[in-house]
Amino acid sequence: MNNRENWGSKFGFILAATGSAIGLGNIWKFPYIAGENGGAAFVFVYLFCIALVGLPVLMAEVLMGRTTQRNPVGAFKILSGSPVWTAIGGLGVLAGFVVLSFYSVIAGWSLGYVFEAISGAFSDFTTASVAEEHFNSLVSDVTWNVGWHVIFFGFTMAFVYLGVKGGIERGSKIMMPVLFIILLMLVARGLTLEGAEKGIAFLLNPDWSKISGESVLIALGHAFFTLSLGMGAMMTYGSYLNKDDNILSATSLIVFLDTFIALLAGVAIFSSVFAMGQDPAGGPGLIFQTLPLVFSTMPGGFIFSILFFVLLSLAALTSAISLLEVVVAYFVDEKNWPRHKAVIVFGLVTLLLGIPSALSFNVMAEVKLFGKNFFDLADFFSSNILLPLGGFCIAVFVAWVWGFDKAVIHLKEGSAGLLDRNPWLADLWWVFLKFISPVLIFIVFLYSLGLI
Ligand code: PFF
Repeated sequence: MNNRENWGSKFGFILAATGSAIGLGNIWKFPYIAGENGGAAFVFVYLFCIALVGLPVLMAEVLMGRTTQRNPVGAFKILSGSPVWTAIGGLGVLAGFVVLSFYSVIAGWSLGYVFEAISGAFSDFTTASVAEEHFNSLVSDVTWNVGWHVIFFGFTMAFVYLGVKGGIERGSKIMMPVLFIILLMLVARGLTLEGAEKGIAFLLNPDWSKISGESVLIALGHAFFTLSLGMGAMMTYGSYLNKDDNILSATSLIVFLDTFIALLAGVAIFSSVFAMGQDPAGGPGLIFQTLPLVFSTMPGGFIFSILFFVLLSLAALTSAISLLEVVVAYFVDEKNWPRHKAVIVFGLVTLLLGIPSALSFNVMAEVKLFGKNFFDLADFFSSNILLPLGGFCIAVFVAWVWGFDKAVIHLKEGSAGLLDRNPWLADLWWVFLKFISPVLIFIVFLYSLGLI
């Protein structure tokens, strides 16, 4: 067995795990799904999902990782001794591959847009259709699309190559504060524009009439994706934690920061979009079409457009790093591979797997399986099948197979004072993990398969 690395400090773990959680999900997806699903009403439902499912499953993942000091496959193997559960860990590693392959394509666009912003391309945007045409011409260009995917992937591999402490932790300690400062600057810019309050009202005025069964399920699915749950990314990061670190406080802080940043991103984006008189219902095109148009007319828009796409790229990078780390940790722990070999071999394999996703926007747009192009298929298969399945299995495994007595002994390591003073906290976690989380996840799963 290789000598396993650990985080240099609990703070380093919190930054890296927060980096994994904060990604395209927070800055690109959360604002528009909140906007489309009733603003504050959706935020309220989402917070419920985070509390009922997100935090309990996050604690379970980190706990499994820290207890076993292994990747998802090794963790299930050690705790269960059963090949079936071990295979479930393998599904996590597979999900890491698949999510990273298409995530990196969108992340590549973010990086490409940094250079679009620097080149001043947005200044020509006079109408929404010009912004749309520009976007379409970029993504239909094979070289642009595949090229940025490869460059983004190169950065991801470099950080993972440098190791847990020297690459991932050090990188997060620089990138996360930069990300936070840029976001605050964008919030300040947005809020000082005339008409910004309309954007805040859009995001924060509760419209309960828009809350339906579907929006609850969207909120729950997003809680999963945004906290990087269900594929062992947080388990892997937890496996580099020391036994004397407090899991309860660390995971609560991660959840708080992830939610706070998503809300700040919503404020920054909608205050600017409304102040500049644009249509907020941009859906997925909000970031790559509406925002560049907003920047083209906003005072200081040139600088803020660069800052925004740097922010998006950094957020995506710290998430992509955690995805690659799941795969690498498996080969390092289970197959005894040196880290650099695992990064190069599986980095390249994932990179290649991402190419058909990148080509789904141009030459392979018409290549379809089950009615979906490669990108949509990879997205659907991982986000709607592998992630909820993984999250469900983790909750069921910890609550029903591993068992409360054993799990709590390990949870208390590093959190004994807090849990001894408040034993109800562990009981509450248990009730959520045993009953509430699996049932809710099961419902999402059926929904995403179109079965309900
Ligand atoms: N949490 C990331 C986001 O919100 O963009 C996405 C993600 C990263 C999902 C890592 C899963 C994962 F393992």
